[in-house]
Amino acid sequence: MAKIAVLGYGTVGSGVVEVLSTNKDSIAVKAETSIDIKYVLDLKEFPGTPVENLLVKDYDIILEDEEVDVIAEVMGGVEPAYTFVKKALLKGKSVATSNKELVAKHGPELLAIAKENHVNFLFEASVGGGIPIIRPLNKSLTADEIMEISGILNGTTNFILTKMKNERLDFDTVLKEAQDLGYAELHPEADVEGYDACRKIAILASLAFGSHVDFEDIHTEGITKISQVDFQFAEAMKMEIKLIGRCEKVDDKAFAMVSPMLLSDTHPLSHVDDVFNGIFVQGNVIGDVMFYGAGAGKLPTASAVVADVIDAVKHKGKNIIVKWSSDPKVLMATEEIPVKAFARFADTDEKIELVESVFGSVEWIEGVEGHKGFVTGEMTEGELSTKLVELGQKGLVIENLIRLESKVA
Ligand code: HSE
Repeated sequence: MAKIAVLGYGTVGSGVVEVLSTNKDSIAVKAETSIDIKYVLDLKEFPGTPVENLLVKDYDIILEDEEVDVIAEVMGGVEPAYTFVKKALLKGKSVATSNKELVAKHGPELLAIAKENHVNFLFEASVGGGIPIIRPLNKSLTADEIMEISGILNGTTNFILTKMKNERLDFDTVLKEAQDLGYAELHPEADVEGYDACRKIAILASLAFGSHVDFEDIHTEGITKISQVDFQFAEAMKMEIKLIGRCEKVDDKAFAMVSPMLLSDTHPLSHVDDVFNGIFVQGNVIGDVMFYGAGAGKLPTASAVVADVIDAVKHKGKNIIVKWSSDPKVLMATEEIPVKAFARFADTDEKIELVESVFGSVEWIEGVEGHKGFVTGEMTEGELSTKLVELGQKGLVIENLIRLESKVA
């Protein structure tokens, strides 16, 4: 029998307890032993719940208990999770976590400690909720060089964009709904400003490139500027607006970025809606692979955590190698990244000449009353910024700008 502890009895923690109970028998078959929860660490009391007699407030009780082999860390946030996880690994306990902030910031260090101590640090649930993506990158796609990963990596923002488009609802109403459904982060800006997607693409890029991509090096924009006018333009262009985290190799360099993007409706990510995530991976031999499923929520995320717990139990005393060195991966400067963009401004015919004098020939998008929109040619982010500044200096106020997925535009 394997004994485990769960750190945190929030949305995901209660899901882990539920999954281990619902699928107790089949999990025992797959792990080749039963898995029992011995402790749940939380500062709150939960009377009348299945964990009321398992609750502890002192982490040292778990740490010092030699019966506990595996810890499921589902508290979120960097501290105290980092301290707890590091201590557990040093004590010879494996850790399964859903904590993307922890993994993005301390992943290589915690993997190295796990390796030295013949235990495992597993983090399938940190990206894509219930979608298997970490294990495929580590195990199934190892014959390939990964050329590109593009993903809808945040369920909350995808839920918001889908509802804003289909039901013409305003941003705040839909955000509240996502919070009630347990999709959103404690601080909504982590979702809507793109920070959560940024950490997730940093984790995927680090695994794809094998060296550490610092999330702070990734240019990140969220969805707060997207309005109904943008959806009207997207409809006129037969495109969809999605928050995309991407990393890509360009010759011997690489870049990563998080931003809203306009995708043509033939793009594999364009119809990934609601809380679902989609992750598109391109390998140099396999070609295109797509991963799709529930990207947030109690049970999908708990499913991935419990799968890691089972893997840790099955690999007791044996480290599963994960190639993610602490050597920094130097990314291209944002100014060098290739881009093609849609921009819009309040309708004034005399500005058309001005736009063309700065951008050269552009594609004009008609059909949205009171606004004019255009799509630029291919350029670098640096050239785009310079041209936008020039437009501003000449008196044209750009209301919003959304990048286009240029390979399919
Ligand atoms: N807030 C996150 C999301 C939770 O919406 O995707 C899952 O990481």
